[in-house]
Amino acid sequence: EKGGYEHFMLKEIYEQPKAIKDTLLPRLRKSDEIKLDSIKITVGNIENLKRIYIIACGTAYHAGLLGKDMIEKHTKIPVIAEIASEFRYSEPLIDKETLMIVVSQSGETADTLAALRLAKEKGARVIAVTNVVGSTISREADDVFYTWAGPEIAVASTKAYTTQIVSLALIALDIAIKKGSISNEKYKLILEELKSIPSKIEKVLEDSEEIEKLADILCKKENIFFIGRGIDYHVSREGSLKLKEISYIHSEAMAAGELKHGTLALIQKDTPIIALVTQDKLYDKTVSNIKEVKARGAYVIAVAKEGNTDIEKSVDNVIYIPEIIDEISSLVSIIPLQLLSYYVAYKRGCDIDKPKNLAKSVTVE
Ligand code: M6R
Repeated sequence: EKGGYEHFMLKEIYEQPKAIKDTLLPRLRKSDEIKLDSIKITVGNIENLKRIYIIACGTAYHAGLLGKDMIEKHTKIPVIAEIASEFRYSEPLIDKETLMIVVSQSGETADTLAALRLAKEKGARVIAVTNVVGSTISREADDVFYTWAGPEIAVASTKAYTTQIVSLALIALDIAIKKGSISNEKYKLILEELKSIPSKIEKVLEDSEEIEKLADILCKKENIFFIGRGIDYHVSREGSLKLKEISYIHSEAMAAGELKHGTLALIQKDTPIIALVTQDKLYDKTVSNIKEVKARGAYVIAVAKEGNTDIEKSVDNVIYIPEIIDEISSLVSIIPLQLLSYYVAYKRGCDIDKPKNLAKSVTVE
């Protein structure tokens, strides 16, 4: 049932091009109109929207951070992305003019479900982005948008994450076009780019041998840092979670600009740093942070876009990803990080599909 792969995680990493097509294409009409299944987002109910909450845990929360950026940028509606276990014990500003989007692969996560119930009690409308048909969250939400990733068996989430990002992108674009807060050109450009993602992921997967070689170096380390800005920072957080969860190496993700406010003190000779530099508008800023860690002897692996070969002057190794617009670069830049985590854990002899202390579905608070 692992389809020739040694682990479910690797199988699921390789399934991402298909999972993304299955999530994206049925929602697109020929005229590039988006059809969000049965969710009715009308001009009327957008006008009354004051704020949007995106609530989730773990990897789904990391997808939510990207959703926040996309929705806020294109719809101009304030969006708060929060971890479910924090949200439910805060005093959230929820009312009838609030939309809540809960993101959950399993649709059973206890804290996410409790957050959904709290929001409904206060009169908010709840949309669930989930992968499991008939799950508790899918039944209790007002509307459901399914990620069509297929069953995800490995505890480490991979294809659920990328299909959640695609789903949130579609929700963002649909609200934005109805609200008139995005230009037609931009809307079409993002849709075209979304359609190109599966083949771009295939390209990264073809280079997996290079990534496997880098794992030889990383698997012997005790601490690994990820840095990035903006979307690259969100993806760094997911990369770091993936690595620690299956390899048991301590890892942290830092906003690159925040390093010098404390964490830089930990950087010394040969400290491994994975630096994401895929955002055109933040490129120079992140490169200057890379220079700061290099000056302290760090060993830097960059994830950069093809064409930005000048990065080679500043780092020890580069993993290139195909050219892609900033907005949805996460869908491609996460792939080398997933593979890297997998190979590091593999070389350390870890139980990749079932890491210790963790469950696939967290139904306790
Ligand atoms: O089923 P959910 O998406 O609600 O699960 C949320 C988290 O427990 C989950 O994403 C967890 O962080 C993964 N094991 C990470 O790989």
